[in-house]
Amino acid sequence: MASKMLHFCFLIFFFLSYGILIPIKCLGNTCLPKEHVALFVFGDSLFDVGNNNYINTTGSQANYSPYGETFFNYPTGRFSNGRVIPDFVAEYAKLPLLQPYLFPGNQQYVNGINFASAGAGALVETNQGLVIGLKTQLTYFKNVKKILRQRHGDKETTTLLSKAVYLINIGFDDYLQENSILYTHQKYVSMVVGNLTTVIKGIYDLGGRKFGIINQPSMGCFPTIKAYVNGTKLGSCLEEFSAIAEVHNTMLSVELQKLKKQIKGFKYSYFNLFDLSFEVINNPSKFGLKEGGVACCGSGPYKGYFSCGGKREVKDYDLCKNPSDYVFFDSVHPTESASKIFSQFMWSGNQSITGPYNLKSLFEQ
Ligand SMILES: *[C@@H]1O[C@H](CO)[C@@H](O)[C@H](O)[C@H]1NC(C)=O
Ligand SMILES: *[C@@H]1O[C@H](CO)[C@@H](O)[C@H](O)[C@H]1NC(C)=O
Ligand SMILES: *[C@@H]1O[C@H](CO)[C@@H](O)[C@H](O)[C@H]1NC(C)=O
Ligand SMILES: *[C@@H]1O[C@H](CO)[C@@H](O)[C@H](O)[C@H]1NC(C)=O
Repeated sequence: MASKMLHFCFLIFFFLSYGILIPIKCLGNTCLPKEHVALFVFGDSLFDVGNNNYINTTGSQANYSPYGETFFNYPTGRFSNGRVIPDFVAEYAKLPLLQPYLFPGNQQYVNGINFASAGAGALVETNQGLVIGLKTQLTYFKNVKKILRQRHGDKETTTLLSKAVYLINIGFDDYLQENSILYTHQKYVSMVVGNLTTVIKGIYDLGGRKFGIINQPSMGCFPTIKAYVNGTKLGSCLEEFSAIAEVHNTMLSVELQKLKKQIKGFKYSYFNLFDLSFEVINNPSKFGLKEGGVACCGSGPYKGYFSCGGKREVKDYDLCKNPSDYVFFDSVHPTESASKIFSQFMWSGNQSITGPYNLKSLFEQ
């Protein structure tokens, strides 16, 4: 009886919130629209919504001012003045904002959850002990599946996980590791992409089918990279630093095509952040922004020293007046406005920027 009442309440709730009657599907005590698609997020600082607030780390946290000054009006742990890509994707998918997995307290997982950790890499050694590496994120996902099965049963969990979209961004921090120079580009990239592929297969084995994968951005255009290397003209990019990103992107794209052939039901969206970030950084006005070469918050050349907030090694920093004019908020991470542009292209961009599916069509599968 109580449960019937609850179902009835959810029915009313969905009726009211959507304005039209949508078929309802019930998972144990929770009712969801039949077309409900969850979002699970894995990766690094581009996607972290606050997991690192709950681990013993200092360098890779952003839970202090001026991070979060836009939209949330308090520092949430996001490396941005406001929202990050998973926030926009959740909004476009009509899901609530996803919580960080490590947020204390009882979590609902039916809408998905965010495992991303700033500084994380595909390689276990990358910032080991200071971040939640990609492999550990997979372990956390395994735990989420277990809890979902306890709460909602095997059948419903299988459906939920197979319809869900898995958004992954990883690799940037692997390529910043000092010991990467001990390897050739080809060898190091094959380890990074190999470990990423292993995790994708791990998610698939747990029931995931629909993947949104982001490639490496044009790293050589980032203020932090330019600041530490001499001879860069203001506003230009360091081609040689983007070279490893290009090797990564080629290999990743090949691996995804292989997975599609090898494993049944595997669908993916490969998002070309490299080309789009290059465009946005070098022609910001085409996208309604003003400054792509210099960060909003930081110090040194191009505000390229990673000092925003003054809690890291370098304490000095300046903050710009209008972050929404900038591509970079700190020396590495996009502003909310740039993240929104990236998210829009991920969601509904055409084949020239995201394929074979864009995220919108992946959610609709
Ligand atoms: C946190 O990390 C610091 C520096 O690595 C270490 O000295 C300290 O013991 C750690 N604390 C805990 C609770 O693990
Ligand atoms: C994963 O990374 C480790 C180094 O952490 C490497 O030894 C291993 O070969 C990589 N695995 C794959 C499948 O590339
Ligand atoms: C850049 O140039 C300065 C002065 O010429 C030098 O001290 C510094 O080591 C150089 N940095 C790099 C990364 O080459
Ligand atoms: C894809 O989108 C871009 C930018 O939005 C546009 O310039 C291009 O013409 C489009 N290409 C096709 C094949 O529709």
